[in-house]
Amino acid sequence: MADATTLAALRAAAFEAMERAYAPYSHFPVGAALLTPDGAIISGCNVENSSYPAGTCAERAAIGAAVAAGHREFTHVVVATNADRPTPPCGICRQVLQEFAPQCRVTSITRGGAVAEWSLSELLPNPFTPSSLRRE
Ligand code: THU
Repeated sequence: MADATTLAALRAAAFEAMERAYAPYSHFPVGAALLTPDGAIISGCNVENSSYPAGTCAERAAIGAAVAAGHREFTHVVVATNADRPTPPCGICRQVLQEFAPQCRVTSITRGGAVAEWSLSELLPNPFTPSSLRRE
């Protein structure tokens, strides 16, 4: 469990990333901040596209940036929106989080101060994992 100072830094990073979101189509900016086991924080935002399916969610943008910077393990992800209620990661992002952070905590926060928290295994029970690819 991240300490209060680290959680505050994660929350701030998620909101900062949310401010940089490129969401001219949905008008639904999202920021995500990942915590690594050694305390690094890497963030991402959603990046939409006029060809709608080409857009990327904040969580996957954060994971892409983190992996490119050499991080492959994450203990916590904070997702920030200005929605009325905290929003959980979408299904595709749950699957991508599963690859690198199967044990991670997922916290969702809103500008209005609402908070929700889950484990990834609550959000994605019975996941497809690297071991699912094994053939005997
Ligand atoms: N979005 C995210 O960035 N993360 C999620 O987990 C759910 C949805 C983005 C995708 C799109 O740019 C906008 O929110 C509306 O769906």
